[in-house]
Amino acid sequence: MNDLRGLILSGGKGTRLRPITHTSAKQLVPVANRPVLFYGIEAMAAAGIREIGIIIAPETGDEIREIAGDGSQFGVAITYLPQSAPLGLAHAVLTAEPFLGDAPFVMYLGDNLLQGGIQDLVDAFRRDEPDALILLTPVSDPENFGVAELDGDGRVTRLVEKPTQPATDLALVGVYMFTAGIHDAARAIEPSARGELEITDAIQWLVDDGKRVEPHVVRGWWKDTGRLDDMLEANRLILDAIEPRVEGELVNSQVDGRVVIEPGARLVRCTVRGPAIIGAGTTLTDCYIGPYTAIAENCAVENAEVEHSILLAGSSVRDLAGRMESSLLGRNVRIRRDDRQPKAYRFMVGDNSEIGIL
Ligand code: TTP
Repeated sequence: MNDLRGLILSGGKGTRLRPITHTSAKQLVPVANRPVLFYGIEAMAAAGIREIGIIIAPETGDEIREIAGDGSQFGVAITYLPQSAPLGLAHAVLTAEPFLGDAPFVMYLGDNLLQGGIQDLVDAFRRDEPDALILLTPVSDPENFGVAELDGDGRVTRLVEKPTQPATDLALVGVYMFTAGIHDAARAIEPSARGELEITDAIQWLVDDGKRVEPHVVRGWWKDTGRLDDMLEANRLILDAIEPRVEGELVNSQVDGRVVIEPGARLVRCTVRGPAIIGAGTTLTDCYIGPYTAIAENCAVENAEVEHSILLAGSSVRDLAGRMESSLLGRNVRIRRDDRQPKAYRFMVGDNSEIGIL
C-alpha cells in the first residue's frame, strides 16, 4: 500500500458556534486550552502519518496556518489546501485531490475529537485493505446523524443522512479511511438538497459500485464539537484525563484534584477544584474555579465563581453576584458587575450572542 496521507477538514461555516466563529475558526476553539484541531493532527502523527493536508476556508485559513504552522511542532509536514467555498465534505475531498494523488488517506473532521486516536483504524485498514473504512459509534439519537446499515457479513450496505426512521443506532463518526477511488465517487455524485456534495452520498456510490466499505466501531468516546454543549462536553472529557501540574504562583490559594496551573499564572486567595486548567499569565483573585473549567492565557477572574466553562485568551470576569457556569467566552470578553446608577444591565455583544441572566 502507498504511504498513507492525512486530510483534515478545517474549512466550513461554523454557523452553529456563532458568534465565536464570526471572528475565528471553530477548529481553533480551545479544548483544555489547546485548539481542537491539534488533537486531530496529533492523532495522525501518533499513527505514523507524516504528510497532512489541511482544508482551509478563505475567511479563517490564515489564522489556521499561523497557529498550526508547517507541522514541525507535531513532527509532520502540513500542506494547506484552500477550498473556494464550503460546498461539502466530498467537495473538500476533490479540493484535496492534487495533494492526495492516488494515495490512500485518513480523513478527519477538524472539529472532531476521538478518544484513543486512530491507530486501530489505520491497522485495520492496512490489514483488510477495503476500498473504504468508516468509523461508527452507537448513539441514542441516530436521527441526528448519518446512520449506517450493515449486512450479515458486517459490510456497509446503506448510509442515510439524518433518517426519520433510523434502521440502526450506528452513527457515522467524523473519521474515515479511503482509497483513491473516493475521488471518482465524489465526482459522480450531485449536490444534495442543502447544496453540498455529501460524503455519505460518495460512500454510498462506492457501495453501489460494488466496492468494499467496511465499518469499524469505536470503543472510546467521540465528540463533534460543532455546538456549545458539545464543546463543553469535549472540554470535560479531555480535562478528565489531564496530568495535574502546578507551575504558576499560589498565594493563600488551594488547588484540589486534577488541576494544571501554567507558568506565569498567579492565584491569590482562590480555590480551584479540578479537573481544571488555568493558562499562562492569567490572574485569579478572590475566586472559586469549579470542575471542568478551562481558562486560557492572560485572563483575569476576580471576586467571582466560575464552573464548567471555557474562557478564551484575554477575557475577564469580575465581581459577579452569582456563579457563572456552562459558558463559553470568546477572546477579550469582559464581564463585570457595574454599580453605576441607574441600576441596569448594560451589554455590548456581537451578532448571534447568547446571554442568560439570573
Ligand atoms: P460541519 O460541522 O458539518 O459544517 P460547518 O463547519 O459548515 O458547520 P455548521 O454546520 O455549524 O455551519 O463540518 C465538519 C468539518 O468539516 C468542520 O471542521 C468544517 C469542515 N468542512 C470543510 O472543511 N469544508 C466543507 O465544505 C464543510 C461543509 C465542512
